[in-house]
Parts: sequence; C-alpha cells; structure tokens
Amino acid sequence: MGQAELVVVANRLPVDRDADGGWRTSPGGLVTALEPVMRTVDGAWVGWPGQAGLEVEPFDFEGTHLVPVSLSADEVEEYYEGFSNDTIWPLYHDVIAAPRYRREWWNAYRKVNERFADAAAAVAAPNATVWVQDYQLQLVPQLIRERRPDVTIGYFHHIPFPAYGLFAQLPWRRQVIEGLLGADVIGFQRTADASNFARAVHRQLRYETRASGIRVPREDGTSRVVLAKAFPISIDTPTYLEMAARPDIRERAAQIREELGNPAKILLGVDRLDYTKGIRHRMKAFGELLRDGRLSVENATLVQVASPSRERVAAYVQLRDEIELMVGRVNGTYDTMEHTAIRYLHQSFPREEMVALYLAADVMLVTALRDGMNLVAKEYIASRLDNKGVLVLSEFTGAADELGSAIRINPHDIEGLKDAIMQAIDMPAAEQSRRMRKLRKRVQDHDVQDWSHTFLGALKTAREANAS
Ligand code: G6P
Repeated sequence: MGQAELVVVANRLPVDRDADGGWRTSPGGLVTALEPVMRTVDGAWVGWPGQAGLEVEPFDFEGTHLVPVSLSADEVEEYYEGFSNDTIWPLYHDVIAAPRYRREWWNAYRKVNERFADAAAAVAAPNATVWVQDYQLQLVPQLIRERRPDVTIGYFHHIPFPAYGLFAQLPWRRQVIEGLLGADVIGFQRTADASNFARAVHRQLRYETRASGIRVPREDGTSRVVLAKAFPISIDTPTYLEMAARPDIRERAAQIREELGNPAKILLGVDRLDYTKGIRHRMKAFGELLRDGRLSVENATLVQVASPSRERVAAYVQLRDEIELMVGRVNGTYDTMEHTAIRYLHQSFPREEMVALYLAADVMLVTALRDGMNLVAKEYIASRLDNKGVLVLSEFTGAADELGSAIRINPHDIEGLKDAIMQAIDMPAAEQSRRMRKLRKRVQDHDVQDWSHTFLGALKTAREANAS
C-alpha cells in the first residue's frame, strides 16, 4: 500500500517531456484545478508519459508524486488510437464518424486499464480517494474496487455519453457500464449525459435508477448507491483574467490585427483538428458569405487555429485533407494581395498567444457537432475584460447549457449559421456588452477550482452515505 491520500488517474500525466529529457507542466485546466488540492494532501498522479515505449520510474514533480504507466507501440495503436479514439470517441460523439469495433483493440483496452488500476492501487494510502478521468479508463473504477475495497472512487467523464440507441452498438457495452459502476460518484458534463448513462444501466442491468443514485447490488446481498450526476467542468478563470490584462498580451492582440491587414472584423475558431468540432461547417458558411457578397475579405478574416491531434488515426488524416482542400479553395477564390479570407494555422500555440487571439477576435465561432463541454468558449469569455466580442455557440456543446447569452446555432443549418455570423458581426456594442456581462458572470462564479471542490465534496458525502 502506498501513501497518497488523493490519487488522480488519467490517460496522460500532467507533464510533457522536453527535448533534453526534462519535464514541463502541461498547462491544462485539470492540472490547475487539482494543483491546490494536491499541495495540501499527499497527492499522486498516475498516467502515460505520452511516448510509445518510454519507461520512466515514478518521480516527484512540483509537489506531486508522478507514476508513469508505460505503453508499448502496439498498445498506443490498439488502446489509445484504436479503442479509445477510433471506437469510443466516435461512438460517444453521436457517430459523426463511424466507430470501428475490433476485438484486439478491446483486449488491449482491458489490459491497459488493468495496468492503470494496478498502479493506482499500489500508490493509494489506506482509505484514500482515487479520482479516475475520462473515456480512456472506463474500466478502471471497478478494477480498483476489486483491488482496494477500502478506497473511495470518483470518475469524471469529460466527453458526452450517448443515447442508448447508439451506446447499444458497443459489443462490450455491459463491461463498460460495470466498469464505471465501480465508482462511488460518476460525474458528467451535462444532465443529459447522466440520464443517458442511467438509462443504459437500466436497460442493460435492470438496476434501480433514481435521482438520488443507482442501486448496485453487492455480492453479500446488500447494496451501495452510485451517484451519476452533472458536474460541468470549467476553466482556470483567474489565470485568464490575469493574462488578458497583461500589457504585452494586449499589444500582441493589436499586432495580430495589424498583421492581418486591419480587417474590420476578425472571426476566430480554435479547436483540436477533430471531426467533432464542425470546422468544415464554419468554413462553408464563411465561404458562402463571401460568395454571396454579404462579406468581403477587406471587412472580415477568419482565423482558424486547428491544433494537430491523433494524427495517425485514419478519420483525422482524412479530415485534415478535407479542411486543407477547403481552405485552399476559399482562399484561392477570394484572397487579394493584401487580404486573406481564412488564415489557417495547423499548429499549437502557448496560452499567451491564444489569449492575444481572443482579444483580437470580434467574433468567436464554436460550431461543434458534439462536444462534452468546449472550454474554448469559456476561455474567450473570460478573456474579454472589455465586455466586447460575440460568442457564436453550437447548441450541441455542454457549454450551451450554461451560456444562454451566446448566439446559439445549429451547425448543420448552414443558412442559420450564416445569419448568426452576420448577426454577430453587426451586433451593436451595447448588446455585445449586455450579453458578455452575463456570460462573464457565469465563468467567474464557476471556475475549475469550484468544479473540483464540488466533485470532491460529493465524493466525500457519497462515501459517508455508503459507509453508514
Ligand atoms: C479531449 C479528451 C481528453 C484528451 C484531450 C486531448 O479533451 O476529453 O481526455 O486528453 O481531448 O486528446 P489526446 O488524445 O491528445 O489526449
């Protein structure tokens, strides 16, 4: 048994390896959310160091004990690229791309989930709390419970949970549900995700599901209650407020506008290059607005940051080709010597540059076809200290449940999307400010610290209820 009172288990470690073999924090929201908690308790983080075949001994990094789980090249292919990102990812995002069901991938997923569970079980102190993150590790809650019945187990699902009619396609649907039910609390982004899960449990296992929780029978004839509920994740708002106020970042924002040839309006999209994000839909709408003469490259430029992601998975390779063909077509048709229609960047940028882009953008386009939350929407809002700028937000994101003052769109409705873009471009300053104030209040009242605090609080309550 180990010493860690709080163990986070996630597919990735919260650090990246740099060129000379050292480690750097990867500045994700989850890392920031857990940093203060990890500092006050004895914390450990179990995760993959991000490179195939890399074997590293556990080490301490900025107050947290890091426990690397190594993956062979075959495991990266079958567990990470295969089952996680070519089976579960498309299935859980409403089959936007076709999921592939391969038995070898499932076997690798099971085996790797066991390895994560072994590592977590070994590092957890008696009666510790273990918090498992996301779809790559759905079997881990149950596997940990088998190994360590003394610990409290939380699981948070960062992506959507699909309707039963889709979920039922999964050949291993029952095992996945049983794996998740090993947790004491299962957190989802939206209430709809939690309901979809409860329905899947009911259909598959016939367990009693109520708002107070799901009753899971134990082997000794008693039962325990598993809470499945929405805990919408957020961003590290204070950091964004600070960055947005920094003179160097504000200057950079002005420079970006200058470098784009001072278009009257800058539209912005920021996404991982993923088929769930609706990047093509947004480019189609923008291209048609140029074609119809409702916009011109002198008065509007679309900046699209599409950061490289999962580049060996076929659906991502194909998507990149489609998008780059489209960018080439639109730009080839409408660019002038001075102005470009779409400034496309297949690159990743540091957070400071992202905030500068948010400050430069008059309109933020979030057109996801399905998205667990979409933190980019929240980052944009948090950065707009001036209460200017307009968020166009797909109703198929978790964020849409919270951000009612954005312009809501259905990205499949290209005519509606075009009208929404024009409405955003033409929106009077007073209305921008009225909407932005409401949006900003939401991300200030609910940041990621608040999220982790609420989740861990619910976990503590659940533990006490099941113990009594
Ligand atoms: C989504 C998932 C995360 C994942 C991230 C980046 O946000 O919910 O679990 O880490 O995408 O994807 P990657 O495959 O690079 O880890």
